Formats: sequence, structure tokens, C-alpha cells
Amino acid sequence: MRKKIVAGNWKMNTTFNEGIKLAKAINDLSENLSNDETVEIVIAPPFTHISGVVKETNQKNIHIAAQNCATEKNGAFTGEVSAEMLKTIGCQYVILGHSERRAYYNENSEVLNKKINQVLAEHMIPIFCCGEQLAERNSGNHFKVVADQISEVLFNLTETQMESVVIAYEPVWAIGTGVTASKEQAQEMHAYIRKIITDKFGLSVSDKLSILYGGSVKPANAKEIFEQLDVDGGLIGGASLEADSFIEIVKSL
Ligand code: 13P
Repeated sequence: MRKKIVAGNWKMNTTFNEGIKLAKAINDLSENLSNDETVEIVIAPPFTHISGVVKETNQKNIHIAAQNCATEKNGAFTGEVSAEMLKTIGCQYVILGHSERRAYYNENSEVLNKKINQVLAEHMIPIFCCGEQLAERNSGNHFKVVADQISEVLFNLTETQMESVVIAYEPVWAIGTGVTASKEQAQEMHAYIRKIITDKFGLSVSDKLSILYGGSVKPANAKEIFEQLDVDGGLIGGASLEADSFIEIVKSL
């Protein structure tokens, strides 16, 4: 049975106090949901908030993610935060390869290869993001773009390492735009991603792989997307900054 996950990526939003308040509200609202062991709630606050958010959340199905980590284990890398540091303050997940990091911070597959190895070495779960730009979809290149993003990073992993990876498909044109991929578009790409993983790692790995959809997921559209066969949850941006809407989305799983 595949793990169902709804993850909230807060991006660079909330002051420390606002973040703590939001985490507390999410924790309170998820109290009744904590018996459902098939659903995991993941919160990805900014680095500065993580320790505080860990203290504020005690529901057993809430897990904490970082939004990024360093390429190296430790050393003279001013301003960087290592996977080991994140692990030791209570992170279980790290989002890697988000399109904003690819676009604004030049994160390419070479960088992501190093980061994913750091995360896996700490026995944390990478949420590996992939997704095409609008022009790439319009020119019919979306499958190739996503296949390349996946093969360049994930194909270097062993079968055992791949078993702990979560993939998030986030079409860039759907992020923060209010335009969601249709349920057919989401299912089509998720099935394609699962096939790529099956071909490389085998059915026993791909069967267990959680593939999340991200891009303008809201309480109003979450259910129809989550109902798709190969959609195992969502990576939520804007709608995760409000506890009620985030939990509504969790309940749509
Ligand atoms: P939105 O839900 O705001 O479109 O953001 C999606 C996203 O980028 C999550 O990582």
C-alpha cells in the first residue's frame, strides 16, 4: 500500500511567530486525523522555524520537512544548512529540486545529485520535484523534460535508496498561477513517471512510490486530483499557509 502524503511548502513566508501559530493550528486541527495511519501530513517551514515547529507539533502523523539542503556534509560553506543539521533538529523530509530553486538558484541535476545523496545518507526522505514549463508542454516536450529530470538524478540511486524517495510532479505553469493541471493531465503524467521508475527499478519499487501533485491545489480541486489512480497526495504552496484550507486538502485524500 502506498503512503498518502499531503505536504505544505510554506516557501519564504511567515515570520517566526506566524509560523509557530500556523503549525499549532495545523496540529490542533489534525488531532482527529491522527488515527488514519495511511495519511501523512508534512509541513515544510523555512529553516529558521523548523525547531519551533517541531516543538509545536505532537500529532504522530505530522512530519517536518526542510525546503532545501546543502550539497556538502559540512565545512566552510558560509550560509549553507546541511542535511545532518536538519536531521538532528527533527526533519524527516527534504524537498529537493523545486522549480523555484531550479529557476532562481541554478539548481541543475549535478547539484541535485549531491543533495539527494546527502539527504539519503542521513536516512531522510527526499521529495524530489520535477515538472515542465508551459512552453515545453505546448511544444509537446513535457514527457521528455520530466523523464530527463528524473533519469539525471534518480537513476544514479540504488533500488534500496529509490524505495525511500517521494516524487512531486509540479508543472511550472500551475505553480502559484491558480491554473491547476486537469485531473487527466495529472494522471497521465503520474502514470508516465511510475512507468519510468518501473522500467528502471522494477515493479516492487514503483508500486510503493508515492507521487504527489503540486500546482494550485485548493480545497475545491484537491479531491478530483487525489482520486486519480497514480496520484498519492499533494505538495501545496499557497493553500498551506492557512490551517483550515490545508486541513481541508488533507481530508480530501
Ligand atoms: P501553489 O500551491 O501555491 O501553486 O504552489 C505549489 C508549489 O510550488 C508547492 O511546492
